[in-house]
Amino acid sequence: MDKIVIDGGRRLSGRVAIAGAKNAALPILIATLVAPGEHRLNNVPQLVDVSSMLSLLGRVGCPSLVHGGAVRLDTSRVSFCEAPYDLVRKMRASVLALGPLLARCGEAHVSLPGGCAIGVRPIDQHLKGLERLGCRFELSGGYVHGHVDQLVGARIVLDFPTVTGTENILTAAVLAKGESVIENAAREPEIVDLVNFLRSLGAQIEGEGTSSIRVQGVQALAPKTPYSILPDRIEAGTYLVAGAITGGDVTVERVEPRDLEPAIEILRATGCVVDVGDTWVRVRRHGPVQPVDVTTRPHPGFPTDMQAQFMALLSMAKGRSVVTETIFENRFMHVPELNRLGADVSTDGNRAVVNGVDSMHGATVMATDLRASASLVLAGLAAEGRTEVLRLYHLDRGYERLVEKLQALGADVARVTDDLERLRSAPLAVTQNVG
Ligand code: UD1
Repeated sequence: MDKIVIDGGRRLSGRVAIAGAKNAALPILIATLVAPGEHRLNNVPQLVDVSSMLSLLGRVGCPSLVHGGAVRLDTSRVSFCEAPYDLVRKMRASVLALGPLLARCGEAHVSLPGGCAIGVRPIDQHLKGLERLGCRFELSGGYVHGHVDQLVGARIVLDFPTVTGTENILTAAVLAKGESVIENAAREPEIVDLVNFLRSLGAQIEGEGTSSIRVQGVQALAPKTPYSILPDRIEAGTYLVAGAITGGDVTVERVEPRDLEPAIEILRATGCVVDVGDTWVRVRRHGPVQPVDVTTRPHPGFPTDMQAQFMALLSMAKGRSVVTETIFENRFMHVPELNRLGADVSTDGNRAVVNGVDSMHGATVMATDLRASASLVLAGLAAEGRTEVLRLYHLDRGYERLVEKLQALGADVARVTDDLERLRSAPLAVTQNVG
């Protein structure tokens, strides 16, 4: 099993180019099903989740060709309307197949989702919205079986602005007969990116980025121009925290700064200097980390996907911070591991009290979900001594070339496999180019 080995305490500095957003690429890849033909997508991040989504598309009959961040995808024919368990269990976002398959085939058989273990994560809102458009569902054998004769536009009021739920409903509504309105829709930048993509296929949509999205269904959609995926605000935010936590000077490039505003606001409150350009953001920290209270909220609030990383930073603050998680009920699994690194965090329900410590120290830690893994890497960068982060499959789902990017910023970090364990006593540089 691979692991990341970090010799902490180095100040990170330099520039890092940010990849396309995982959470925009996944819905856009599967949404290609609503428009038969050849699609060309650019700035697609090279991640395990993206490979899983391409495998899923391959399984339903749509072959793809990947060259770096460029993906060509042929959705001319769909021969199978199922997202099987072996793929869905690896990636919860496979549930995004529901809307596009129903719109394309009139049926969809999607295994109930797996993915990050951060709570119960039901899909009742997805099903409620699609039912309003005329779909019927049955749950059996661990699968959701959906059917529809004719999608018909409707007004849908979501109980919660679910991100993938909004995306599932949108991708079905674009081919429904008549008008649909999604109220209390999610407003995340990745929703806006999906809408821009659907619009490039000929869809008629208004109101993306607000909580009311209006869709005029059309009879058919077709790929016309290549589409480039939005930059990943969570990857960018993670490198900004890497700069902040090491008292460094890091610039993230090829980003959409507006989408980083909630993270920038908290970075400034912790005492960092943040400069913002048209497609870049630079963070510097000279003084101590100031404590800040952080509450996660749906966009444009502070993103839950940055909570674990900021908790690592606040662990080094000069004082007490309170982190409140309002999106997922079980998203503090990084806390015991951060404490193993010397942090002082205690939780009570959805609140975590972070008492800043003067220093953290290296330890072996186990990642439990994607962003939790990122927070452990960040803490390891700041900790004194050696940190080993195990269970890297979570990180591989969401961070493209993480180790290489951190090395380029000056981190003493390497990815090693168990067979290289015997080299542990050797200098880290020996293992850096292996595995
Ligand atoms: C998406 C993101 C994930 C991010 C999350 C919140 C993708 C692929 N994943 O996940 O990285 O952490 O948004 O920003 O884009 N809920 C229900 N019923 C539903 C749907 C959701 O109760 O039908 C609840 C969930 O249990 C959770 C909350 O709503 O408590 C938010 O979930 P949601 O916005 O749906 O997250 P995802 O779309 O799964």
